[in-house]
Amino acid sequence: MQPAAYDLESRHPGWPARLGPLRVAAGDLAIRPIRLRDAGDWSRIRLRDQEHLEPWEPTGPGPWRDRNSFWSWPPQWTALRSLARRGQCLPFTIMVDGEFAGQITIGNVIRASLRSAWVGYWVSSSMVKGGVATGAVALVVDHAFAVAGLHRIEATVRPENAPSIKVLTKAGFRQEGLFRRYLDVAGDWRDHYSYAVTAEETGPGLVARLVATGRAEYR
Ligand SMILES: CC(C)(COP(=O)(O)OP(=O)(O)OC[C@H]1O[C@@H](n2cnc3c(N)ncnc32)[C@H](O)[C@@H]1OP(=O)(O)O)[C@@H](O)C(=O)NCCC(=O)NCCS
Repeated sequence: MQPAAYDLESRHPGWPARLGPLRVAAGDLAIRPIRLRDAGDWSRIRLRDQEHLEPWEPTGPGPWRDRNSFWSWPPQWTALRSLARRGQCLPFTIMVDGEFAGQITIGNVIRASLRSAWVGYWVSSSMVKGGVATGAVALVVDHAFAVAGLHRIEATVRPENAPSIKVLTKAGFRQEGLFRRYLDVAGDWRDHYSYAVTAEETGPGLVARLVATGRAEYR
């Protein structure tokens, strides 16, 4: 079988990229590649937001304050950038009105006949309930299908995580099943719903749908 055109053009189609801006309730939303100099904002927000984030994120080695210190960002940035340059990941920073507001990542990119990946995200507690995560998911999923050459994006979410389930539903994902004792989160094996969307389900695009339903505006 011939390799697809995007494989010939680039080993990392869709990376690096800047997406948006899109107007959502919280402000002007834009997506850009992660940067080494995100360390200060990233660490300050994540140390403050331990209660907001820890119940939903994979259990990591050592205490939260160590895993989210200023100096823990450079090795994470290096590892993510290296995966991005190999076409295995698209790691983005979420910006609102020019301020660091969280992260969104397309990870575990598999190409060939699968062309699949997962999406993961978090938003600063100071920016929640303003459509930021929904807009960010719509922007990166449209990009993953239109530019990065993917066909299917999956997301897993704890049944207790009502805001994240709402994000995925608003963005256009559908629930496919329940993975029992799937992921080690906050110190135990937690059930997760699996959600997914495929390229042919998105019609004019997830962003276009948000705009058509009044949840976002083009800038
Ligand atoms: C989940 C998260 C990303 C949502 O970010 P956000 O920018 O607030 O998301 P949005 O504003 O786009 O949408 C959130 C929706 O959940 C709703 N919501 C918030 N708290 C809720 C609750 N306790 N119960 C039900 N719905 C809730 C909001 O009202 C909003 O819906 P609406 O637009 O219809 O009003 C953010 O809360 C977060 O970072 N949580 C911690 C990390 C996390 O859970 N990551 C995802 C792991 S799967």
